[in-house]
Amino acid sequence: MYTPMKLGDTSEESMEARGADPRVAAETARRRTFAIVSHPDAGKTTLTEKFLLYSGAVNLAGSVTARKNQRATTSDWMELEKQRGISISSTVLQFEYRGFCINLLDTPGHKDFSEDTYRVLTAVDAAVMVVDAGKGIESQTLKLFQVCRQRGVPIFTFMNKMDRPARDPLELLDELERVLGIGAYPVNWPLGAGIDFRGVWDRRSKMAHLFERTPGGQYRAPVATAGLSDPVVRDRLSPGVYQTVCEEVEMLDGAGAEFDPDAVLAGKVTPVYFGSALNNFGVQLLLDGFLDHSGPPTPRQSRSGKAIAPSHPAFSGFVFKVQANMDPLHRDRVAFVRVVSGRFERDMRALHVRTGKTLRLAGATRVFGRDRETVDEAYPGDVVGIVGKDTFAIGDTLTEDPEIVYDEIPRFAPECFAIIENPTPSAFKRFRKGLDQLLQEGVIQRYELPDLARKVTLLGAVGPLQFEIVKFRLESEYDAPSRIQAVPWTLVRWFDPDTRTDGISLPSGARLAEDDQGRTVILFENDWGLRFFKEDHPDIPLGDRPASRGNKTHADVAGQSPGLT
Ligand code: G4P
Repeated sequence: MYTPMKLGDTSEESMEARGADPRVAAETARRRTFAIVSHPDAGKTTLTEKFLLYSGAVNLAGSVTARKNQRATTSDWMELEKQRGISISSTVLQFEYRGFCINLLDTPGHKDFSEDTYRVLTAVDAAVMVVDAGKGIESQTLKLFQVCRQRGVPIFTFMNKMDRPARDPLELLDELERVLGIGAYPVNWPLGAGIDFRGVWDRRSKMAHLFERTPGGQYRAPVATAGLSDPVVRDRLSPGVYQTVCEEVEMLDGAGAEFDPDAVLAGKVTPVYFGSALNNFGVQLLLDGFLDHSGPPTPRQSRSGKAIAPSHPAFSGFVFKVQANMDPLHRDRVAFVRVVSGRFERDMRALHVRTGKTLRLAGATRVFGRDRETVDEAYPGDVVGIVGKDTFAIGDTLTEDPEIVYDEIPRFAPECFAIIENPTPSAFKRFRKGLDQLLQEGVIQRYELPDLARKVTLLGAVGPLQFEIVKFRLESEYDAPSRIQAVPWTLVRWFDPDTRTDGISLPSGARLAEDDQGRTVILFENDWGLRFFKEDHPDIPLGDRPASRGNKTHADVAGQSPGLT
């Protein structure tokens, strides 16, 4: 039986007395926490809907889209999503399937939100990568994939839209291996493509799954299975397609590569599934394959260097996302916490490491789009939304064991900047409050240009769409109009804290500024300016992220930071 621990009592005896809770162990073992990543339009939303359809979480596909629209009519912010036809907010979905409890963390597809996506990826144990089979690897896929690889999470690939003209499947596999630098193992193989698409050949069970189009793709696709030489299969395919498929399957089998589950878990080989999300085809094979070969929640590194396993008796987790005003009726804030170890219980007390305060974790919810449900308990791999606190920031650790501190989530260096002003003096307080709260969500960063006669606030973001959203949200959520003015800088670099910067010579167009913590930064218009500065000052180190906890700046390794272009 689980014995709640007195907060802070992490003595050996106390830990031992609690031991590993068998309930936590059983719940952890059936958890799978993953995200779907894709280039916009490859089919991420559609696949999400179909996963819900197959798990029985919804009866009719279309619910995610429907919810998107519904949200759009009830939330001002979502209205912007609708206007721009993009998906901005991430949603956490939890559903049961085959005895597994699946947490699906949705990620925004737009490239200006790659930082948000990156943070979501810090909270998952696996990723499903959706590729449009007519297009192959696209820029966003590549970036997101690199982030997954850095974390070493298993990646499952879904070659979508096989009902449309697709590229040669061998070429697609080759591209996966070449461009992504990872082994690709086709678990199934397409029987034709486009109007000739008739299903997939499952190489492991040696069965063909034949495809029937369903009206609007709303229901589970009926599937008939048979061997490749079965007349049912042969008659379905045109003679040309049948022959090609037989040759390709023979060639793949002859190549002799065995499916290696350990290489999949280590993120070295991606199992590849072909299908059509819109037509519900290949979705179940993907979902089953994913559950068979992905792993339960993994340990996380604590700052002390110790890996904290899910079985650690103390509850611990970290905040990977903060979102204000998700519900326009309540104007509150949700901090999304990924549970790493132990059991989360409603109203429990935990240490908020950054402030050193012990907090009662009241108001924990599971968020399903706009719908919220109170959470009584949660286990490693789960995500709980803690509502109503403005105490939390991205990367914060919540724990019963003060020895556990999770690493900060690195920020992306912004690539575009804009000056923001409040044109309405009477709205000053609302403007400041709104901006402060939006900054806490971490999608924008604030800088100040200190040497001007008046104080100028500069915003930095990964993409310009974020400025538009800040303006829109300030107005709609805080009733604070703002003026945004673009500026030419595209790069920011941090000095070491002990570098003297007064009187320093700068290349033309470059400027000194201060970040939110008062650290001196240098803004460049382009790479050329940065290079020029480095040549001029070879002894001054610059970092593409601020120094943390008194350390020196991170080495300037543009291109190696997560997601840097
Ligand atoms: P995203 O979240 O990755 O951005 O993609 P999303 O699922 O929204 O899909 C993008 C478009 O591709 C949608 O069409 C969707 O219906 C279509 N699609 C997804 N999977 C398949 C598939 O297997 N086959 C075909 N033929 N199309 C597919 P849309 O016209 O942009 O939107 P909608 O009006 O259908 O919602």
